[in-house]
Amino acid sequence: MPFADRISRIQSSLTLELSAKAKALAKAGEPVINLSVGEPDFPTPEHVCQAGIDAIREGYTKYTASSGIPELRAAVAENFNQMWGADYGPQNIVIGCGAKHTIANTVLATCQRGDEVLIPSPYWLSYPEMAHLAHADPVIIPLGPEDDFKLTPELLKKHLSPRSRLIIFNSPSNPTGVAYGLEEMGALIPVIKESGIWLASDEIYSKIIYDGRTHHSLAAFPELRERLVVVDGWSKSYAMTGWRIGLLVAPISLATAVGKMQSHTTSNASSISQYAALAALRGPQDELNAMVAEFQQRRDIALELVTSLANVHCRKPEGAFYLFPDVSWYLGKSWQGNKIETTLELCRYVLDRFKLAIVPGSVFGGEGFVRISYAASREEVREGIARLGEALTTLE
Ligand SMILES: Cc1ncc(COP(=O)(O)O)c(C=O)c1O
Repeated sequence: MPFADRISRIQSSLTLELSAKAKALAKAGEPVINLSVGEPDFPTPEHVCQAGIDAIREGYTKYTASSGIPELRAAVAENFNQMWGADYGPQNIVIGCGAKHTIANTVLATCQRGDEVLIPSPYWLSYPEMAHLAHADPVIIPLGPEDDFKLTPELLKKHLSPRSRLIIFNSPSNPTGVAYGLEEMGALIPVIKESGIWLASDEIYSKIIYDGRTHHSLAAFPELRERLVVVDGWSKSYAMTGWRIGLLVAPISLATAVGKMQSHTTSNASSISQYAALAALRGPQDELNAMVAEFQQRRDIALELVTSLANVHCRKPEGAFYLFPDVSWYLGKSWQGNKIETTLELCRYVLDRFKLAIVPGSVFGGEGFVRISYAASREEVREGIARLGEALTTLE
C-alpha cells in the first residue's frame, strides 16, 4: 500500500545520518569529537528538575488542558507583556511539545495546498519540511555574507506573490547566529504589514545572546500583532531539550485554532514538564546567565581558531551557539583521488578520517558552509577545530 503523498514530500534528515555515524564511532571506542549538536551541554537547572520531581510526587501526572496549564500560560503572557509592552492573556498562549511542535502547528494551522511559505536562507532545516507537510510550497529567500545573512525589505518584496501565506523568521538564527537589530527588523514591518501574510517568528534562542546585546522580538511591533506568532521555548535557554516543552504567542483566533489541532493530536505537553517549565520561568536565572557567559567565551575561542584556518571565512555570531564558516574554497579538492564536491561529502570525510562531526551547510540551504556547534567543552571545541584545519589542509 502506498503512503500519503506528504511522506514523499519530506526528506529524512541527513544530519541524522552523520550523528548516527558519530555515535556508532564513539561507541566503538573511536575518539570522536561531536560539534554537530543542537543542544546545550549543560544540565537542566537543579530547581527545575526538582519542580518536575515535585509534580510527580504531588500527582500532577494526568492530562492537562490541551493548550497548557493556566498558571504556565498566564506566566508566559505576563513575561511577554513585561518584555514587549503587549497585553496578551493566557488565551493567546499555547504550550506544546517543544518549539518544533508549535512551529509545525502554526504552519499546519495557517497553510494549505497552493500556499507559499517564505523562508529566508540559511534556515533551520525543519521549516521547508513543515511547509511540505502542510502541502504548501517553501519559497527560499537566499541570503549570504553580502547581506550579512539578513533579510531586507527589497528582498522580501521580491519574493512575495499572491500565493504567499506565511513567512518564517528566525533571530537569533540557527545556523548563522545572526541576531537582527531593532532597526533592521523595523524596516521589514511595512512590507509584511502590506502583504497581509502570517508571520511566524522563531525566537527559541532569544536568551542566548552575547556582548551585552538585548534580544529584539517582532512582538515589540504592536502593528504586527494581529498576524504574528512568536515561538519560544525552554529547550535551549534552560537546557531542557528532552523535556519537550515549547510555546507560542499568537492572536486568540490562531491560538484557539492551534489548541483545537493539539486537542486531537498530542493533547497536552507533558504535565510534569509544564510544572518544570513554570519553575524555570519563575525561578533564579543565574544558571542561564552562567551558561550564556560560557557560550560567549567559547564563541570567541572558536571564532578565533576558525578564522585563523587558511581560506575559511566566518561571521561573528551575536547569538545561538553555532559558527557558520564558509569553506567553499575547499570544495572541488580531493583526498587520495576522491573529489569532494559538496559540504555533505566534506563532512563525511571529516568524520571518517578525522573523527569530527559537523553539519554540512547544504541541509540549511547554505551550500559552501558548515555548521560548527560550540555546545561542547572548550577542549572539544579547540580539538575539533584543529581537526577541521588538518582535514582541510590534507585536501589537494
Ligand atoms: C531554530 C530552531 N527552532 C526550533 C528548534 C526546536 O526546539 P525544541 O527543542 O523546543 O523543539 C530548534 C532546535 O534545534 C532550533 O534550532
